[in-house]
Amino acid sequence: MIPNQWYIILESNEVKKGKPVGFTRMGEKIVAWRDKQGNLSIMSDLCPHRGVALSAGKLKGDCIQCPFHGFEYDTSGNCTLVPANGRSAEPPKALHVKTYPTREAHGFIYLWWGEPQKEYAPLPWFESIGANMVYSTIQDHWKCHYSRAIENQLDVIHLPFVHYNTIGRGNRTLVNGPVAKEENKGKRDHLLNLWVYNELDNGQKSKRPLEMPDPNRRPSLQFHFPNLWQNWIADTVRALIAFVPIDDENTMMYIRYYHTICAPILRQLTGWTGSLANLVIERQDRRVVITQRPTRSDLDIGEILIPGDHPIVVYRKRRRELIEEAEST
Ligand code: FES
Ligand SMILES: [Fe+2]
Repeated sequence: MIPNQWYIILESNEVKKGKPVGFTRMGEKIVAWRDKQGNLSIMSDLCPHRGVALSAGKLKGDCIQCPFHGFEYDTSGNCTLVPANGRSAEPPKALHVKTYPTREAHGFIYLWWGEPQKEYAPLPWFESIGANMVYSTIQDHWKCHYSRAIENQLDVIHLPFVHYNTIGRGNRTLVNGPVAKEENKGKRDHLLNLWVYNELDNGQKSKRPLEMPDPNRRPSLQFHFPNLWQNWIADTVRALIAFVPIDDENTMMYIRYYHTICAPILRQLTGWTGSLANLVIERQDRRVVITQRPTRSDLDIGEILIPGDHPIVVYRKRRRELIEEAEST
């Protein structure tokens, strides 16, 4: 994990009012719940009294109640009641549940993974997704580290093989570039933009990334650290993926299909069709990616890379930089 980042971890509608829900995210058991006003709280799913999962408990007013001995905790994790000590007794301060800073936007729940900050960075998002666009989401579980799932979406040389009968049809095995450019480097809205120039191999030489002219069109793919990606299919059509880390060996893919068709039945139909196409394509990817070893990517993991792997290298370098940056503060 890259520390000190906002990670998309859930969709807002996965946490309803009136019922706590347990999840595993970033290798930790967490419980998500809402108070009566709908304010979201995400905390460690572990009662500090005797280690029971709070997600098995229930909500009492604006507190979560542990199912074992009825201790209650508020949204900031402080214990407000120890029934066995009596209502008039002040609960011990040590009874505190770890909470995580959270935000909600674009139908996603973001969690801050790292040190608490005086001022938090803006949430990762693609501003090019217009307010007029609607989406439908599917979730798919991949048994791999989230970095491998991300790299797969930056990998353009797999297209004619993994997707030979879908998006990689046409046998364009020769890869020029690809061009990978970082935008706003060093800033919070840092983007990795990618342009694809695959073509049929007629015996010509492939061009290396540095031999490619400056692209004069919008990128085909964009990645936003730490876990958000979009395929810019058209100005009004996008595939978006949030690569949600469950733990070191499991990732939940939140795959959205964005479009602008809003008429009631057509909207659903378009959403289903787009999502189905996304599912077929990403299942082709999943079959291969979950076999990669080592399961987690990094610089210097012994892979023999070629010029077409350029975007993977850019991703790995920036990822390492962000980790080192966070560790040195
Ligand atoms: S274990 Fe939670 S109240 Fe005792
Ligand atoms: Fe793919």
